[in-house]
Amino acid sequence: MTANEIRESFKKFFESKGHVIVPSAPMVIKDDPTLMFTNAGMNQWKDVILGIKDPEPRRRTDSQKCLRVSGKHNDLEEVGHDTYHHTMFEMLGNWSFGDYFKEGAIDYAWEYLVDVLQLNPEDLYVTVFEGSPAEGIDRDEEAVRCWAKHLPADHILDGNRHDNFWEMGDTGPCGPCSEIHIDSRPPEEKNGGIPGRELVNKDNPQVIEIWNIVFMQFNRKADGSLTPLAMNVIDTGMGFERLVRMLQGKHSNYDTDIFQPIIREIEQLSGMRYGFTTPTDARTEQEKIDIAMRVVADHLRAVAFSIADGQLPGNAKAGYVIRRILRRAVRYAYTFLGQKEAFIYKLLNVLIHEMGQAYPELTAQRELIGRVIKEEEDSFLRTLDKGITLLNEAMHQLEEKHETQLDGQEAFRLFDTYGFPLDLTELICRENGYTVDIEAFNREMQQQKQRARNAAVVENEDWTILFEGEQQFVGYDYSEYECKIMRYRKVNQKKRSFYELVLDYTPFYGEMGGQVGDQGVLVSEDETIEVIDTKRENNQSIHIVKELPKNPTAHFMACVDTDKREASAANHTATHLLDYALKQVLGEHAEQKGSYVSPDTLRFDVAHFQKITDDELRQVERIVNRMIRQDIPLDEHRDTPIDEARKMGAIALFGEKYGDTVRVVRFGPSCEFCGGIHATSTGRIGFFKIISESSVAAGIRRIEAMTGQVCEDAIYLLQDTFCDLKAMFNNASDLKAVLMKYIEEHDAMKKSIERFRQQAVERTAKNLVEHAQTVNGIHVVKAVLPMEPASAKDIVFKVREAIPSSLVCIIGSIHEDHPMLSLMFSDDMVSEHGLNAGTIIRQAAKLIKGGGGGQPHYAQAGGKDVDGLNAAVDEALRLSI
Ligand code: ALA
Repeated sequence: MTANEIRESFKKFFESKGHVIVPSAPMVIKDDPTLMFTNAGMNQWKDVILGIKDPEPRRRTDSQKCLRVSGKHNDLEEVGHDTYHHTMFEMLGNWSFGDYFKEGAIDYAWEYLVDVLQLNPEDLYVTVFEGSPAEGIDRDEEAVRCWAKHLPADHILDGNRHDNFWEMGDTGPCGPCSEIHIDSRPPEEKNGGIPGRELVNKDNPQVIEIWNIVFMQFNRKADGSLTPLAMNVIDTGMGFERLVRMLQGKHSNYDTDIFQPIIREIEQLSGMRYGFTTPTDARTEQEKIDIAMRVVADHLRAVAFSIADGQLPGNAKAGYVIRRILRRAVRYAYTFLGQKEAFIYKLLNVLIHEMGQAYPELTAQRELIGRVIKEEEDSFLRTLDKGITLLNEAMHQLEEKHETQLDGQEAFRLFDTYGFPLDLTELICRENGYTVDIEAFNREMQQQKQRARNAAVVENEDWTILFEGEQQFVGYDYSEYECKIMRYRKVNQKKRSFYELVLDYTPFYGEMGGQVGDQGVLVSEDETIEVIDTKRENNQSIHIVKELPKNPTAHFMACVDTDKREASAANHTATHLLDYALKQVLGEHAEQKGSYVSPDTLRFDVAHFQKITDDELRQVERIVNRMIRQDIPLDEHRDTPIDEARKMGAIALFGEKYGDTVRVVRFGPSCEFCGGIHATSTGRIGFFKIISESSVAAGIRRIEAMTGQVCEDAIYLLQDTFCDLKAMFNNASDLKAVLMKYIEEHDAMKKSIERFRQQAVERTAKNLVEHAQTVNGIHVVKAVLPMEPASAKDIVFKVREAIPSSLVCIIGSIHEDHPMLSLMFSDDMVSEHGLNAGTIIRQAAKLIKGGGGGQPHYAQAGGKDVDGLNAAVDEALRLSI
């Protein structure tokens, strides 16, 4: 079976067992502060598992794109060095939300692996949780009993907390799990060799876990304690790449049809050969090449899928993680595959050829992904070059000091500032006969980590639950609503602390889809609490307040600040019109890549590969303003099945998570999937004006614009400025013509002044030359005159033209009360008498309380004290002859 067939077979099997096939959630998570990337299939069902969301349908199955590069599940450093870990991978899963439990899950897994896929039961081993007395959890006897139906006792092994108690992150749903491992060693190794059971969880590349069946029973709270879940949940995850490898009879995930086409392309481009070596410590050249090829093939997928999901490489948070992954790939390619120029982006075509069908977001954004990767590669390669130069300098200094060890701080600086990892520094040092102080490097690293930890202290206390339930958002229809507080908690940040409230009913919109959160008040009979912001987390509005109400159980009226909300709503509607107009003017590739909507402004990022011209911007403004004047009413469809929404022509965003039903927001021809608050009709926007257009990243342009009242204010300001200007020119009717004339006259005047100045310079220079004195055979020109600095300079040069040898020329000049010295020597005074105008002028300038400098034959100095000018001129002369 091909990889694509295997994926289908899994979903079809569970569909035949009453599971609904659901799509993968995006890999990048946008509204969960505890998690940046999807690291397991269950992430998107967290709320269902916690009982916050409707569990129907209770049986589901899918293939989920996952990324394990940060937080609790981080495989990054393994990737490439072994043959079965990945940054991005697909996880096949089946879920039961309060339906079947341990026995059902185990039976299905068995049936699929043994009956459908025909794996040999003798190769299968399972692990069960040994228990944790400290937490009051017993050994999982139930799982043992269920497995015993299918497997002999010596294939059922105990596992510890690390392997057999699954947690998503520091908090959230968790539970004991049972892993299925497969022994894929060739028969000659299996028979008579070490028994398979002894190799389970021992990092043997041929005896690996393929499927994890989690029995979700608990919720881990912030204080570390466990509370039972209201229903039992089955969460399973099968490593798709590993399964494919088993079924295709390969030794490595990278030898399957998932990775081989990419690796072949890497061979083509690099001219090197993949050696099919199994993992080692990278001792031979071939092993190093193989590791590098695996790293590149793996990381390419992670980065391309992230960009397709809307996460560009950047300097913070998720963007930084993606940047690091890409840089790791660049480094390996640079060091071991000889790639000194960008090349990873060239692999994109093969990736899209292989995966573009299953993941159309890749195909649709091919150009953008390619451009972003290439730009990142280029810029990191420049950084590497700089780092190498620095490293060369450092090694050079070692050589001069007759030392052989690079100090750890230097290695750390290269790492921290230039992204130069220790192994690369070591490699280059080793090639040149130096070592690196690794201990010192590690110390620096630890210190930095500690600093980062200290900087990031955000402490969320546990929720205080007043009553359970699912929050109802009523903000599309109301801006005031009666409510009660369901739960609250305190959040302690470094500099401030505040409370978060969850209400049972709320009209407050939490920041989402670029639109900022609502502000307003909660009013009860005896108090008023200010809501300073509203966030959105896990699909609910979280109200931020500075103080808890004195009586949290009271009934409140939740009142949104409607002025701010209406301004935001108008701006949000304007972004939809802008999105529509951009596609009209630039073309269909102009995908939305981000937006920010507040009461005062709106920002919109769009995929486009060159500057948007002024003319295009004007066309866009005209389209938007025409739609505003048409006063198109909001046509909103809530809970529309997603397929129907697509049929309506609604535009969805890549990387956004949509449920089975979506809200469609239409204003005439503009039709989008959107959960935001909108103007009731486009006329409410009033007027739309673009303020700026700029670049944010390769292939992405940013537009900033304003609407309504803000435009009005801007126009008044513009008009007032214009009127003031006109008044300055006697209220000329054609200001432009008057200004043009003014500028021309001004230019002509400047030219005449310059001519007069030159004439004065000539005259003065001539005069000075005529009055030059001779002292000890040296021509001395000395004067103190009122003039501009530029003229003083011109004069001394003219004097030297007239007296090219044995010349000392010193001029003190005064311009607007500022004294100035200009000293000029003919070349022979410098070369034969060893004079240095710079040194002398600095000395003399002290007498005018100033400083200056210049070259040996010419120097200038300015000062503050006009009264000292004569003395300074004499001093300069004294030092010169
Ligand atoms: N949530 C489980 C895992 O990711 C299935 O391993």
